[in-house]
Amino acid sequence: MARTFVVLRSQPDGRDTAIRREGIAGIRHTIDRRAATVPTVSDVPAGSIGRTIIAADDLAARVAELGAEITADYQGRRPLLVGVLKGAFVFMSDLARAIDLPVELDFMAVSSYGTSTTSSGVVRIVKDLETDIEGRDVILVEDIVDSGLTLAYLRSVLGDRRPASLEICALLVREGAEDSGARYAGFPIPPDFVVGYGLDVAEHYRELDAIRVFEPE
Ligand code: IMP
Ligand code: MG
Repeated sequence: MARTFVVLRSQPDGRDTAIRREGIAGIRHTIDRRAATVPTVSDVPAGSIGRTIIAADDLAARVAELGAEITADYQGRRPLLVGVLKGAFVFMSDLARAIDLPVELDFMAVSSYGTSTTSSGVVRIVKDLETDIEGRDVILVEDIVDSGLTLAYLRSVLGDRRPASLEICALLVREGAEDSGARYAGFPIPPDFVVGYGLDVAEHYRELDAIRVFEPE
């Protein structure tokens, strides 16, 4: 018997189009999201996307510089890049390709308790590394250092595992954040809540190619 599965596509009018696929044949019908019990994408947070703080070209240029710095600093070594999901995934992907050395990649996921635009500082590991980092040259790759609490926590957890070295590479560092401890830092960033290039508000806007301000209503 052919396997069937359902593909959901969000429509601009707030409804989902469900495409039930069987082999290559598809039957389309629409589901009213308000009435349906099927999983849907998270609601778009109230607010709008404002000005661009860092354009795509500037991100690319700075990531190339960070890659060159890391390449120079880790000659003859094989660093392990540890990305903090999900925010760092775009940055890490570009950074890995900007480093002219063999690298390895691994990821951690943490969740911090708080609302979508504030951090409570309480962090929990949701996904741990697959790699044993003892004796490894680890570079922790973060999207943004805001209060610095997430990094402080990760630094202590990873430090306990006795890596040969542990450095931080953060794309953004909030202006006024106490010493971020990041050896590699992309850009200082004003107090605005920002999205894009991996950063989200309630899982939205990670796909934007620039860093933009999110203005809550
Ligand atoms: P910290 O523990 O306060 O340094 O918070 C770091 C985490 O908060 C980041 O990894 C982001 O996931 C999130 N975060 C902080 N500021 C922003 C922002 O402006 N936009 C999107 N996420 C942010
Ligand atoms: Mg986040």
